[in-house]
Amino acid sequence: MVDHTYLQDFKYKTKNPYNDRLGDFNDFVFCGEQGEALRGKWNQDVFKRKAPICLEIGSGYGHFMMEYCEKNPDINFVGMDYRFKRSFALAKKLDQLTHKNFRFLRAKGERIGFLFDENEADTLFYFFPDPWPKTKHQKKRLFQTHFLEIAYKVLKPGGKFYIKTDHDGYALWMEKILDNQKLFNIDLKTTDLRLEHPAHFLSSFKTKFEKIFVAQGIKIKAFELTSLKRECTHV
Ligand SMILES: C[S@@+](CC[C@H](N)C(=O)[O-])C[C@H]1O[C@@H](n2cnc3c(N)ncnc32)[C@H](O)[C@@H]1O
Repeated sequence: MVDHTYLQDFKYKTKNPYNDRLGDFNDFVFCGEQGEALRGKWNQDVFKRKAPICLEIGSGYGHFMMEYCEKNPDINFVGMDYRFKRSFALAKKLDQLTHKNFRFLRAKGERIGFLFDENEADTLFYFFPDPWPKTKHQKKRLFQTHFLEIAYKVLKPGGKFYIKTDHDGYALWMEKILDNQKLFNIDLKTTDLRLEHPAHFLSSFKTKFEKIFVAQGIKIKAFELTSLKRECTHV
């Protein structure tokens, strides 16, 4: 069965009181189709500067997004979440920041191929995604072979894809998909990030959800992937 979210004619739901309220932040928040109209234009028309584009799927309350943007003023960061109320709560916080090297999309991760052009993004972050633990719901997991092909398309040659999860089942699911593909090199694969790779970039911060999982003694599973796409050389 084809997931409708991936189709060209997918329409975002807008019947939610927070949809209109997100309009208060229209200098940096783009909702659904509005974001898709910016495909291929992020650096030139939105940020109005040339810089590496970092995209986070499922920014949640924005802890990683805000910290990473502050530490890396020379990147153009696009955070993304599809929950209305959570997006509004984050937009209110983002509005207070003095540095403006970010934009926010109220959008679905499944749509990155409509939101970004081929080779437009440099880095993809995907932290503590909804694991959909029940077998009958697993088809809703974002990380699927088809999604990986889209991620490969929007990432530049050598682009990075960083993933962390608390969920053993989802980590195994991702591992299985990764073992059967040739688009990304697996630079890091761990079932206990902080014990096995304490000096790795992924160990250097904790997202809001990660703090909760770590406090519960849950081991963090993580992947670092590098796109195997080659530079296009014209002679
Ligand atoms: C468990 S929370 C993690 C939030 C944050 N990354 C963290 O680690 O604190 C998962 C977030 O992903 C968002 N999300 C889930 N599926 C998504 C999708 N397909 N596209 C965009 N956001 C999604 C949810 O709304 C939620 O805010």
